[in-house]
Amino acid sequence: MPETFKATRISEHVWWVGAIDWSVRDFHGYKTGRGTTYNAYLVLADKPTLIDTVKAPFFGEMMARIGSVIDPADVQIIVSNHSEMDHSGCLPRTIQALRPRAVYASAMGQKTLEEHFHLGGGIETVADGRVIDLGGMGLTAVETRMLHWPDSMMTYLDADKVLFSQDGFGMHLATSQRFADEVDQDTLHYEAAKYYANILLPLSPIVKKALDKVAGLDLDIAIIAPDHGPVWRSDPGPIVELYAKWAGQEPAKKAVVTYDTMWGSTDIMARAIEDGLAEAGVPTRVMPLGGCHRSDIATEMLDAGALVVGSPTINNKMFPTVADLLTYIGGLKPLGRIGAAFGSHGWSGEGAKDVAKALSEMKVELVADPLSVKYVPDEAALGECRALGKRIAEELEARCK
Ligand code: FEO
Repeated sequence: MPETFKATRISEHVWWVGAIDWSVRDFHGYKTGRGTTYNAYLVLADKPTLIDTVKAPFFGEMMARIGSVIDPADVQIIVSNHSEMDHSGCLPRTIQALRPRAVYASAMGQKTLEEHFHLGGGIETVADGRVIDLGGMGLTAVETRMLHWPDSMMTYLDADKVLFSQDGFGMHLATSQRFADEVDQDTLHYEAAKYYANILLPLSPIVKKALDKVAGLDLDIAIIAPDHGPVWRSDPGPIVELYAKWAGQEPAKKAVVTYDTMWGSTDIMARAIEDGLAEAGVPTRVMPLGGCHRSDIATEMLDAGALVVGSPTINNKMFPTVADLLTYIGGLKPLGRIGAAFGSHGWSGEGAKDVAKALSEMKVELVADPLSVKYVPDEAALGECRALGKRIAEELEARCK
């Protein structure tokens, strides 16, 4: 492996030994426009310990980074905080190469790893709250089930006050910088929000409980080291506060209008609805599916109180692109949103009705019946669209006070 793969020291005893994936653009349906990192950490205790591994193809990069600090054969312990394949993909190969004395995971983690890799044993379970003796320092297990998988746990290194938070507080962002304070702050904030919106939003009630649990443990946390993106040092407080805010899903005075269009009529309707919203002073993102990815729409939805979705009708159904979006967003389980459905049709007009049904199923509270217009909207129809925008604005105003 080339010498370019060096470790980065993040605290007195901890080194980042992960991998940078500059090229990934699709992470199970999430558009990773800036790539990502798979973070693994090496703790130089008396028993050198590797926390998490990386996606399988990056095994060599991780090993080279470990090798830039110690002889990899000296690693005595591996801790798997999260068994999703982006963090465990090369675990079997790592175990084979390093022959550690112990490999730890949560009880669910042990089960998941065994089922994934058919290891036939060799993973020891670590109970919630148990301290793993690394020799001269302890690593405390903090179970955080369902963040992001049932197996998930965080671990806390008391010696350096580092919380290894696996997916929590992470983001898909490939950078040359390892620390959050070194990254452009707008990019950092956007990618953190995008990660929350696309990965953790459906787990918001569990995020709240996990934040309370960690706060209740009264850990002195100086550094948060996630499994993706930069490390939060100096002051991890703001990202924790953002998580509390996002998990709260309080309605905000902002609307997302998203749609697809066949011959331009649903597009004209969307613009008229946006007119009504803008006239009433509601910041609105218009996101046509021809130019916007579902994961970017989900990101804008994170701090939007209203979700307005339009679809033409094709073969007595909503457009497939709109169905894709609604399936994706429905899975993210947004709470407390209001919304509306609209669309142009030629013959039968099921598109807007299908959208309304899907929005209702995801518990978006509809402020009006689906607004369906035949063929090209005339002035009267556009007036109805503007009125719908104003109606949504009034409802948002009432809820966001
Ligand atoms: Fe980054 Fe849930 O894995």
